[in-house]
Amino acid sequence: MSGENKVLVLLGSPRKKGNSAMLAERIVRGARSAGAAVETVFLHGMTIAPCRSCYACQRPRSKGCAIDDDMQGVYRKMLQSPAWVIASPVYWFSMSAQTKIWMDRCFALGAYAKNPFHGRRIALAMSYGGEDPFDSGCVNALRTFQDAYRYVGAEMVGMVYGSATEAGEIASNKPLLREAEDLGKRLVCGL
Ligand SMILES: Cc1cc2nc3c(=O)[nH]c(=O)nc-3n(C[C@H](O)[C@H](O)[C@H](O)COP(=O)(O)O)c2cc1C
Repeated sequence: MSGENKVLVLLGSPRKKGNSAMLAERIVRGARSAGAAVETVFLHGMTIAPCRSCYACQRPRSKGCAIDDDMQGVYRKMLQSPAWVIASPVYWFSMSAQTKIWMDRCFALGAYAKNPFHGRRIALAMSYGGEDPFDSGCVNALRTFQDAYRYVGAEMVGMVYGSATEAGEIASNKPLLREAEDLGKRLVCGL
């Protein structure tokens, strides 16, 4: 895996300065303090089409995803980074559409590298408007990530999540921000 201490942040909210982005930013602060180099991808606004289920990526000697859009560059960045931060708001009791489309397209990652998820270190950041992580649907999304990354052999280092509605409101949750920073340090300490 190239880029030994590189962290790739994938932002799945349309709000650049929203709550999930703010949590991701704190994870980044922790990761940087532990010596990591960080690159951020803002998924909203990129041209990333939904998976077409053509299975071209699953064929022997596949050259990759048949869709030639911005995801091709994201694949490259993902493969160059041994650690990923995935940030998403809760939308309709799950992750945002931007995040889900990106996740579905990751089906093709195995066409670009052998065992592309294996050993990859992952941190999650999520925010929701409800009061409770269960009632809000946050837990549904967290479980989706957990199940998927366990299935593909990635290492879920940790997750931070909290309640907030207005963009940036999560900044008042100081213990959560400290938790996020600590997660950033742990994310890179094993690299
Ligand atoms: C389309 C849409 C759907 C939402 N669905 C939920 C939901 O199911 N549960 C919830 O608790 N909050 C829901 N929210 C509120 C957001 O999760 C909340 O405002 C969150 O902090 C936004 O994060 P962001 O600032 O990173 O975008 C929804 C917001 C929008 C715009």
